[in-house]
Amino acid sequence: MSIRPVSDSTIYRFPHAFISKKGEPIVVTLLDEPRRHRLIEMYLAFQPRPSFSGLPPADDQACTKWVESMIGRAINLVALSFDKGVVAHEALFPMEGQTCEMLDVVAASVQDCGIGSELARCGMQLAYELGFEKVLVSIEVANARARHVYRKCGFEDASEGDPEDMVLDLRAHRRAMSVCAADIMNARAVTIHPDQPCRQALETFVTRHVGTLPVVDGERRLVGILSTSDLLLPSKLAKRVRDVFTRQVVSVREDVLVAKVVRLLQSTGLRCIPVVDREMKLVGVIGRQDVLAYYAGQDRPRPAAPATGLAPQEPPSAPGTQR
Ligand SMILES: CC(C)(COP(=O)(O)OP(=O)(O)OC[C@H]1O[C@@H](n2cnc3c(N)ncnc32)[C@H](O)[C@@H]1OP(=O)(O)O)[C@@H](O)C(=O)NCCC(=O)NCCS
Repeated sequence: MSIRPVSDSTIYRFPHAFISKKGEPIVVTLLDEPRRHRLIEMYLAFQPRPSFSGLPPADDQACTKWVESMIGRAINLVALSFDKGVVAHEALFPMEGQTCEMLDVVAASVQDCGIGSELARCGMQLAYELGFEKVLVSIEVANARARHVYRKCGFEDASEGDPEDMVLDLRAHRRAMSVCAADIMNARAVTIHPDQPCRQALETFVTRHVGTLPVVDGERRLVGILSTSDLLLPSKLAKRVRDVFTRQVVSVREDVLVAKVVRLLQSTGLRCIPVVDREMKLVGVIGRQDVLAYYAGQDRPRPAAPATGLAPQEPPSAPGTQR
């Protein structure tokens, strides 16, 4: 079996941060020794016990033993909140062949905040990077929330065997995701220079129907993003782009795989991401429409201006360019 070691993960960078539906920053990371006890505490505090597929065990000792056995057997991810510590856990159990089984558990106090979905995406991405071909989850048919979360992440009801099983076929995923951003991006992005007046940017927003403009210097280096929200106050219109644009921008390198772009689009809520070369020169933009058009396999002629503008940018992990 050619499963790569976790440390070899090339696309996925831990820790991975995102904002929950309640606006709380959450960090997903691999379980390390110091957090082992926090994970056990999370399960001991889980209410009610047992609540899904007979888990977590009701007895404290049995519960601790069960968590320790997962730590020993599985690849473990935890989600951390600043004030509550470990709030969610995901385990990937390697099985026969290139299959793994996934378990996701979110502490009751923070369920329904988007943490389970993001953790499932992290686990899928990690399984994909480690070389697994199939991911299984076993969820009671009555567990509508969990089944909804996994279905949303691309899992399907298993066509044979246990009706509780849901399966994700990473082979199909791998085929679709193995092209580079440069292969499907829009190479004709409308841009703006920092010295240009905001009135000119306004004109571009209105006439080119874009929501955001990559800001590039004279050598076409990406220096930031200007969004329509930067111009909402009339006083801004008398200024230059350099006075109002956002310098922190999430961007991707042209050779990054579409798998990574899709994960970024999902986890940041961005509609579109600038694509740069090694020297940070803008070579295009890639958005949800580009990914969907690629999936649809349609050879649509590209319009002169991008059909999609760039959505407001999230603060990046410096320097913001994802490789
Ligand atoms: C299943 C579980 C991991 C999901 O995590 P979570 O953080 O609560 O999930 P999210 O907030 O990301 O998403 C919940 C989704 O379910 C939906 N949902 C909530 N209650 C639901 C219900 N009764 N029926 C259907 N969908 C429901 C929410 O609307 C949301 O969907 P949306 O994002 O499309 O709006 C978590 O609830 C949990 O730990 N449950 C107990 C353990 C378990 O059952 N694990 C699964 C076995 S592997």
